[in-house]
Amino acid sequence: MATHTTEGERYLHVLAVPFPAQGHLTPLMRFCKLLLKHYQNRGSLRVTFLDFYPPNDSADHSFSFKFHHDRLLQRVRFPFPNFSQQLPSLQTFFDSLLCIESGLHQLIQFFNCHGLPVTCLVTDFMTTFPTQDVADKLGISRIALFTLSASRLLLINYASQNDTFSIEQVMDAINSTERRDEVFCDSVPGLPRLLNKDLPQFKHITDDTRTVWEFANRSWKACNSRAHAVVLNTFEELEPSACGLLSDDCDVPVYDVGLWIESLSGDTSTSMREEDERCIGWLDQQPTSSVLYISFGSTTMLSKGQFEALLHGVIDSKQRFLWVLRPGLIDDIDYCSASKEIISRSENRGFVVDWAPQLRVLSHSSVGGFLSHCGWNSTIESIANGVPILCWPYFADQHMNARFIVDEWRMGLQFKHTGEGGYLVESYEIETAIRSLMEGKEGSILRKNAHALKQKSSQCFESSGSSLLKLDALIKDMETSIQCGTVSSSSCKS
Ligand code: UDX
Repeated sequence: MATHTTEGERYLHVLAVPFPAQGHLTPLMRFCKLLLKHYQNRGSLRVTFLDFYPPNDSADHSFSFKFHHDRLLQRVRFPFPNFSQQLPSLQTFFDSLLCIESGLHQLIQFFNCHGLPVTCLVTDFMTTFPTQDVADKLGISRIALFTLSASRLLLINYASQNDTFSIEQVMDAINSTERRDEVFCDSVPGLPRLLNKDLPQFKHITDDTRTVWEFANRSWKACNSRAHAVVLNTFEELEPSACGLLSDDCDVPVYDVGLWIESLSGDTSTSMREEDERCIGWLDQQPTSSVLYISFGSTTMLSKGQFEALLHGVIDSKQRFLWVLRPGLIDDIDYCSASKEIISRSENRGFVVDWAPQLRVLSHSSVGGFLSHCGWNSTIESIANGVPILCWPYFADQHMNARFIVDEWRMGLQFKHTGEGGYLVESYEIETAIRSLMEGKEGSILRKNAHALKQKSSQCFESSGSSLLKLDALIKDMETSIQCGTVSSSSCKS
């Protein structure tokens, strides 16, 4: 491996390990690029980013390297034996992650012998097991990247301390379908008033709620006691109470240094699907702020009934729309027939793609609103572009994010849920909410609020901005307390 280094040079070599899911890959790559951009002595930071792939057979377990054009970032294809997005449960997925431990040891060993020894791991919170163990065994510092909101981390922190509330109380609140609208917490420091239905639940293909809460607790305890630092993709002005509490109360230093919303393409692309660029040409032909962008992220699923209600609502609202119809989004309906049905009923007001270049869409002047599942990445990408949100949360942190969007930041609307145990939205509700967002007075107030947040988010990286100051502090911390490597003659060799 060529390294472009000089003997005696001091450097920090970061090995970045993602959690292999769309909503996690992108923030890690964006954070690595942010570090590379701001590192004081740019040339002395190298990043190696792991790309997991499923090996074809047991003999196919080699690493392969690919350099980014400026050679400060390289990507390594890394075999992940049980890698599949279709595992039966999250517990199986978490267990399967443990098998990367020996490969990580081998890769780090490889760098020790043939390249620049790894001096720091930057890894997703969800990969705490096994990456924290690898870091500890090898005496390397680990920075954990928490890809969701500060408030979500604070909730995990409380659950793991077990005094303000316990996992049992959380489980009871989540499972009490008839008490969905009851208050779960009202005056817990750092958190807004949360209802039972706002709590993160993980009912997707299987119900993994308890598994994920317990896994998050264990991961957080390990991060809080053993990680070098935790970084968050949020900023102080967005979540002042949660950010303040985390940085004051945790044992591990917590740096809120977001938002990272850089567009990734080419050598740094993390997209797991091909983006259909044709929608940008279509958006170019639409009036300013006239298009509702509809996307449910990478994992959300809609029932057939829900899809039909949504389609009715969207069509009856008479608004222009761009709809991301990810294959697998709708239970029991295939992509082609759903897409045909939408287009045939849209009277030329709609455009359908199976995956969009979302950041380019949200920053397009024709987009006036976002009907979103409220995944954290979609939420902050909307904030960074000043686009108000119509919330359609499905699972995980999405209901909690929606609570912030509607009640705290006042840049969005939420539907009234009625049928299917509180999960169904009537088509009339959908139509009315879309109209309010896109053309009503309420919508223009929400748009104004979204714009104000956009301003705040961009000020964070101006001089003396909160995220820039904290990023400086993080980088200083990395430069002073993480042991640098020194390029030796052997490590310069290919
Ligand atoms: C998952 C969880 O579902 C979510 O609750 C959690 O907050 C993050 O992890 P996901 O469903 O993938 O996330 O949603 P989100 O966090 O919004 O991330 C989706 C990413 O895919 C965004 O970066 C978005 O820009 C991108 N995207 C989405 C596209 O590039 N094109 C699309 O068509 C749709």
